[in-house]
Order: sequence, then C-alpha cells, then structure tokens
Amino acid sequence: MTRVFSGVKPTGHLTLGNYLGAMRQWAGVDQHRADALFCIVDLHALTVAHDPARVRRLSRQSASLLLAAGLDPELCTVFVQSHVDEHARLSYLLECVATDGEMRRMIQYKEKAVRERERGGSVRLSLLTYPVLMAADILAYGTEEVPVGDDQAQHVELARDLAVRFNQRYGHTFVVPRATLPTVAARVMNLQEPTSKMGKSDDTGPGIVYLLDEPEVVRKKVMRAVTDSGRDVVYDRQERPGLANLLEILAACTGGNPAALSGVYESYGSLKKDTAEAVVEVLRPLQKKHKELCADPGYVEGVLREGAERAREMARPTVDAAYRAIGLLPPV
Ligand code: TYM
Repeated sequence: MTRVFSGVKPTGHLTLGNYLGAMRQWAGVDQHRADALFCIVDLHALTVAHDPARVRRLSRQSASLLLAAGLDPELCTVFVQSHVDEHARLSYLLECVATDGEMRRMIQYKEKAVRERERGGSVRLSLLTYPVLMAADILAYGTEEVPVGDDQAQHVELARDLAVRFNQRYGHTFVVPRATLPTVAARVMNLQEPTSKMGKSDDTGPGIVYLLDEPEVVRKKVMRAVTDSGRDVVYDRQERPGLANLLEILAACTGGNPAALSGVYESYGSLKKDTAEAVVEVLRPLQKKHKELCADPGYVEGVLREGAERAREMARPTVDAAYRAIGLLPPV
C-alpha cells in the first residue's frame, strides 16, 4: 500500500484553506486508499514567537478537527509530532545533508522572516531549518506521497532533494517522496486580499474563514469578499483573482469546475450567496462532530496515544538505518 504522510501546524485556528487544500483529501481519499499518517506538527509551531498554552490548546483542537473532518483512527494514524522522538533525531542528520543556501531560498522562510522582523522580533534559527524538520517528518516514514496545498510544494521538493542526496552519499536509505496537490482549491486565497493565501497565522480575520466559524459569520465573510471591478462572472486567476477565488471555493465545495461554474452566474451577488451556503453546508457536519468530540476529550487523547505508538514503530527502523548509514556507531 502507498505510504502517505501529511501534517498541520498548530499556529492558529484551522481554516477553510486547510480543509479544501488538504484535510478533505486526507479524509475523503487518502485514508481509504493508502497507509496514511496525519500529524499535528507541534514542533513546527515553535519556530515563531509563541505562547506555550496556546500551542497546547491549538494542538488539541487541531487533533479534534482532523477527526471531526473525518479522519478515522481505524483507517489511518493520527498523532502529535513531539510524541515521536524520531522526527527530531532524523532532523539533525538531514541538517548535515542540507545547505544553508538551500534554506535561505525557501519562499516561506523569506516571507516569515520579513514578517517577524517587521513585528520587531528576531528570527529564530528553527525558522530557517524548518524545512529540514519537515523533510524528516516525511522521510522517517518511507513516505511516497505527501498530500498538501500548493504552498508546501517547495518544501516537499526539498525533502525529495535531501532524500536523493543522502541516498547517493550514504547508500539507499530513504524513499523519495512526491507532493500531491488537489485539482481545485490548492491555494485558497484570503477573501479580503485575494492575491495572498488564506493563512491561519495571518491577522486579517474578515478575510479568513475558520472551520469553527458560526454559519452567520461565514455568510458575512463571504458576502463581504473583495471582488474585482467588472460585472461579468469570468474565471481568470490573473486578472480577476477575487472572483476566481470564490469560484474555486464554490467548485471545491460542490464538486464542480470553476470555469464551468462561471458560466452559470450573471451577478457577483448570487455567486457570493451560493458560495456562502456551500461553505456553510461543508462545515456543518464537521462542526457537529467537533462539538461531540469536545465532550469526550478522553477519546481524542486515546487516539493520539495509540497513534504515537504506531508512528514510533513505523519510524524507528528507517531512522536507525539512517544513523548507521551516515557513520554513527550503533549503541552497545
Ligand atoms: P499548514 O499547517 O500551514 O497547513 C496544513 C495544510 O493545509 C494546506 N493549506 C492550504 N491549502 C490551500 N489553500 C490554503 N490557503 C492553505 N493553507 C494551508 C497546506 O498546504 C498544508 O497541506 N509545513 C506544513 C506542515 C508540515 C507538513 C509536514 C506537511 C510539517 N511537516 C510534512 C506535510 C508533510 C504547514 O505549515 O502546513
């Protein structure tokens, strides 16, 4: 069976972008066809200024939301990254294979480093090495496919490069993974700034639909989405990014095609109304399940405990093999 790995970072409340770009594929397709692991990557949340209590809270919430979105612990492994030491162990070895130039070329590093500096903070070294830890997450499990949104494609490419380089230098150790992206909504944009990604760590609340937003809030955000000047409804990502974003969201929620949908609408108002309702309907079952899970925190804890045990067993042989291959003396 194909080995699949992916993760979410508990740096903010999960958004419609996370759901349409990634979680929906995990629950709807990947867990049924593959041997899949889904991870709450809490170590990654420490790469920018953070509040420890908030990271803990968001890690628990992300776990409940993954289950609420339909991940089934009978079909896949759901766990927290810091519960499995192999990630950090392997990350160090991969730091000895990666170069600083490679790290500095990463788009997300450049963007986030600028943001941290603008906020008057300093840039944590872990922000620079973040993609190496991400490569370790992926390579530790012999992962073949990494289902992610478009913004993570460059990081998965780096994981491929590191796997190939390690294998060439030290002998075949890692499977070389590849990213798989959804056909629509691989990059859901901010409703207020349709040229920027809808990101959970951004501060522009009205442009971000959170998975736990009440229906009325979702409707308000979608109805107030920034659209482009012009009256006709056409699908053009370059020239009409606001409109294209709504068409993609609607297509992703209803199983349609954004270009075909553009022919159905004559006004922005009716497109927004249908998009809002489609999002509300997609979120409704998830929110109901999330409420049930909140009433049963013991269940979620049990899932994470068992998930970590399974993940440890899966990662250890590969990480041990990498330790041997790179020249470290096995413990006696
Ligand atoms: P994160 O937590 O930012 O996002 C989780 C997943 O959601 C996707 N995504 C989006 N897709 C479409 N439109 C959007 N606006 C949008 N925003 C987020 C992301 O592409 C991602 O698939 N570095 C990763 C977490 C990570 C990881 C890994 C992923 C760490 N280790 C190993 C895969 C494999 C991240 O920050 O995702």
